[in-house]
Amino acid sequence: MQDLKHKAQQDFNSRFKGDPTLYSQAPGRINIIGEHTDYAGGFSLPAAINCWTLCAWRLRADNRIQIYSSNMNEFWQTSWPELADGIDSSWKKYVAGALLLFKESQLTQEAPKGFDLSLIGNIPLGKGLSSSASIELALLNGLNALYDKTLTPLELTLLAQQVEHRYLNVKSGLLDQFACQFSKKNGALLIDFESLKTIDAPISPQFSSYSWVLVDSLVQRELTNSKYSQRVEEFQTAQNFLTNMGESLRSVNSQQVPELFKSSAKNVRMRARHIVSENERTVLAAEYLKTGDVEKLGRLLLDSHTSLSKYYEVSHPSLDFLVSCGSTMKGVVGGRMMGGGFGGCALFLVHNDNVETFKKSIAKEYESFSTVKTEPRGYQFVDGASAWSET
Ligand code: GLA
Repeated sequence: MQDLKHKAQQDFNSRFKGDPTLYSQAPGRINIIGEHTDYAGGFSLPAAINCWTLCAWRLRADNRIQIYSSNMNEFWQTSWPELADGIDSSWKKYVAGALLLFKESQLTQEAPKGFDLSLIGNIPLGKGLSSSASIELALLNGLNALYDKTLTPLELTLLAQQVEHRYLNVKSGLLDQFACQFSKKNGALLIDFESLKTIDAPISPQFSSYSWVLVDSLVQRELTNSKYSQRVEEFQTAQNFLTNMGESLRSVNSQQVPELFKSSAKNVRMRARHIVSENERTVLAAEYLKTGDVEKLGRLLLDSHTSLSKYYEVSHPSLDFLVSCGSTMKGVVGGRMMGGGFGGCALFLVHNDNVETFKKSIAKEYESFSTVKTEPRGYQFVDGASAWSET
């Protein structure tokens, strides 16, 4: 992160003269397990990883807002009253969305001062590593500190989700925002989306001999939003069906699903089967992380993949190939597709001794399968979002 901070400071200096007074950051994330369970009030087990969005800020005396995006190499000059106009690119939608929601909830009585901001990030975009949530939370944590407001981490998280819902028209759950905000570097985070409580999930020293490696399928995910919304609707149908019987997908177990859903449409039954069993796997996975049951955790990752592919139908032939091929390689204890699906990355748990060989072999096999070159990468866990002043 120091490199990013240095670059943000340099950019700030050359665009705005002088130094920023405040920095804020939010990381990307992996999700160990618990996929398509967040909007279903279930469990997920993510961890923040060492790639970030970083913001460098300084309050202005007037109401102008000046933002420089290093990644886009674009300079955007606006003001609080003009913010909603001239949104001509995707990155501006995220920024304007976060700013407008913050203003709506926090700066209602004031004619707010503007600010100078330089923005930079190194999270691969569109790969399911929560680059969007990271931008939202880097901005919201920064604004909260810049304007001396006292939004709690949970309030910031919920506001970030609203950016997606209201400004990007993506009805996503809360997994990404929770992971970016609440993660701790020494463990994973077990999130209960029913109570909106997080539990730090400690990791046994057994796991220090293993690495989390991501392999990008490089499959474009154009249809993701419409298919994602379709899954959310199917979940809702399954949930409504149970509500009529006084139950919910959280209150039943996977043995009960076939009987309970025997008169339902096949797709609804399959979606219910995934959600209920994925919740069970996620709670177990947190336990295995703590007890150091590496092999059992690996098995859960593979089962999760099968369920996502077969019953939730959010995988892709390329992801299925990566998981079936990668999981037979030496030192690999398990793997699965990660994130919303239909493309993006596969996640593997690999013994440290075998990581380099694994990366080369899986890239080679994948090139023969798909003709594209992928560059697998290992990640470390880091802390969630923060803001700090430097004057
Ligand atoms: C995307 C969404 C999350 C979550 C995952 C699937 O990443 O943004 O809210 O639903 O898909 O687990």
